[in-house]
Amino acid sequence: MSEFTQKVEKELLSYLPQSDNEDIKKLISSMEYSLMAGGKRVRPYLVIAFSKLCNGSEQAAMPFACALEMIHTYSLIHDDLPCMDNDDLRRGKPTNHKVYGEATALLAGSGLLTLAFETALSERAISLNGYEKCVRAAKLLSECAGTSGMLGGQMIDLESEGKSVTVEHLREMDAKKTGALIIAAARLGCISAGASKEQEKAAVTYASDIGLAFQIVDDMLDITSTTEALGKNVGSDEENEKSTYAALLGLEKCRSLCEELTADAVRSLDVFSEDTQELKNFAYYLLKREN
Ligand code: IPE
Ligand code: IPE
Ligand code: MG
Ligand code: MG
Ligand code: MG
Repeated sequence: MSEFTQKVEKELLSYLPQSDNEDIKKLISSMEYSLMAGGKRVRPYLVIAFSKLCNGSEQAAMPFACALEMIHTYSLIHDDLPCMDNDDLRRGKPTNHKVYGEATALLAGSGLLTLAFETALSERAISLNGYEKCVRAAKLLSECAGTSGMLGGQMIDLESEGKSVTVEHLREMDAKKTGALIIAAARLGCISAGASKEQEKAAVTYASDIGLAFQIVDDMLDITSTTEALGKNVGSDEENEKSTYAALLGLEKCRSLCEELTADAVRSLDVFSEDTQELKNFAYYLLKREN
């Protein structure tokens, strides 16, 4: 496990609540189960990378990184529920509802969503960033997770099952269900660092491009990968008759589209005078990833 992942996981754990009540303990343990089940920690990485790029501190950006990872994990718990994608494997482990039951999984997801705001507005976050940046971060978190962001995209995703849709339709769906959280990651780093408008704009362009490529690669891996490599069941999209880029355009076209998006993302980093090699490498890592 990379040093960065270890650091993020230690921080994530530190924000989990405690309770003496046995029932509430069960809820917290189901939240911890999914939060600590592994995962690539792509969004926290981006928060910290953009904060550092704009001369911010890793320590100050960390509460925002954790808050976003909590929202991401909540979205996965709900995404896997039988009423949504009905998946029983996530991050190489049984999905939350398979272990704790559907009702607890529902509450665990909601618990992580609310904990995200507690985290972004925690004393630690405020003492490191000040009130104003924390309020901006909380506003951004609510927007990226809400109806104009992830939730809106998830709704479009469900409504598109079994239908023939256009590329524009898919672009909007993916920009919302996946892009919104990835763009928020880049912007949260900028907020914590007090970046300029120009820097934040470039960060958003980079993140929109890698965000779209990220979901297209996810859809391709659902077809080409193995359950072992992916840590989730392959073929889930076909089974659910999901409308995806891969289904509409085929793998070849998707591959070149993702390459173009990655090259565009990398180019948008040109406005930074600092060294952006790490973020360039990261965009290519996401393109070539196997899980
Ligand atoms: C999976 O996200 C859901 C999508 C938005 C495609 P990740 O691939 O980042 O999942 P983890 O966090 O690494 O498990
Ligand atoms: C992204 O889409 C899900 C979220 C926004 C939570 P998928 O449904 O394809 O994600 P996976 O493949 O289950 O991780
Ligand atoms: Mg889904
Ligand atoms: Mg899914
Ligand atoms: Mg998928």
